Amino acid sequence: MRILGIETSCDETAAAIVQDGRIVLSTIIASSKKEQELYGGVFPEVAARRQLECIVPAIHQALERARLPTSHLDAIAVTKGPGLLPSLLVGNMAARTLASVWKKPLIGVHHTLGHLDSPWLECGEDPAFPLLTLSVSGGHTELWLRESHTKGKVLGRTLDDAAGEAFDKGATLLGLPYPGGPALSALAEKGNPASVRFPSPLEGHDGCDFSFAGLKTSLKYMLRDRGGLLALSEQEKRDTAASFQETICAHLLSGISKALKLCPEAREVHLVGGVSANTRLRKLLTELLSRGSLRTRIRTPTRMEYCTDNAAMIAAAGYFLVEERGEDAFDTFSTEASIVLHL
Ligand code: KG4
Ligand code: ZN
Repeated sequence: MRILGIETSCDETAAAIVQDGRIVLSTIIASSKKEQELYGGVFPEVAARRQLECIVPAIHQALERARLPTSHLDAIAVTKGPGLLPSLLVGNMAARTLASVWKKPLIGVHHTLGHLDSPWLECGEDPAFPLLTLSVSGGHTELWLRESHTKGKVLGRTLDDAAGEAFDKGATLLGLPYPGGPALSALAEKGNPASVRFPSPLEGHDGCDFSFAGLKTSLKYMLRDRGGLLALSEQEKRDTAASFQETICAHLLSGISKALKLCPEAREVHLVGGVSANTRLRKLLTELLSRGSLRTRIRTPTRMEYCTDNAAMIAAAGYFLVEERGEDAFDTFSTEASIVLHL
């Protein structure tokens, strides 16, 4: 089954064609990140205008690179939400129009389900359920126990900011450009992660929830108390970035440790979403799971571009919805800025 995936929930305009949820025939991602740098974040109006210009060329290129006539497409899958409404509407209007003109079934996919299914893209051997997935992006931070593609429960989620948001806000405080995650982690590379002691979020809390807002405030006050960012040497900035990143990673890993104790049946641990591109987080997770009795297979998306927003993951999630829910996957749906994923 070949599915055209379309993703426009934030500042990307993405189109991809994926066969059987795993084989990526093409994937195109156009982004307005350069323009967004001017605003220090995503300006919805600017994102949607760029998406209007890019959506048709992106779909054209995806078809061309896959060398696929539209008659060989079996369905279209589109991110129905959550996200920026003007952006979502661009992708959804394109998908609805093409589905009607080409007479293809249309699948509405929750954005987070796309991230949860991203490890299947070009995976070789299929992941084995039940498994734990930590999905960490700029918009959400959720820890799932999954029994199948369409069955699972949330074990924990952030009570305030998302992990990616913490990276982005921390980066802004450190004078780094948007998007902050990659910039902060690059600065942290030559820093000492033990140099600044930030308070550990939700210490003593039993559940697997997360919280990042306090950490950002700690960084803000730490910089103020030291006389502002300009008073810091280059090495002090690197050390601060490394310590800030380390605290975020440690907090995420403590959630995974607790979840593994609660769910010893989990056969794999997946790390997905934009923040899963973070090499320090990957390294610390590998170290954690190679210790003692915690010998569980780790997977991250097979390519960095499948960590951050892309359309291949939406096509994959669409495929697995059809595989497990049959015709129900083609039910009508509304396009929504806020929508909770229920499995
Ligand atoms: O999944 P994604 O592309 O979009 C959302 O669904 O939000 O995630 C984007 C987030 C941003 O907050 C970005 O700063 C963060 O992922 N990110 C990173 C890295 N690469 C992207 N955070 C930390 N380290 C990275 N290498
Ligand atoms: Zn995302």
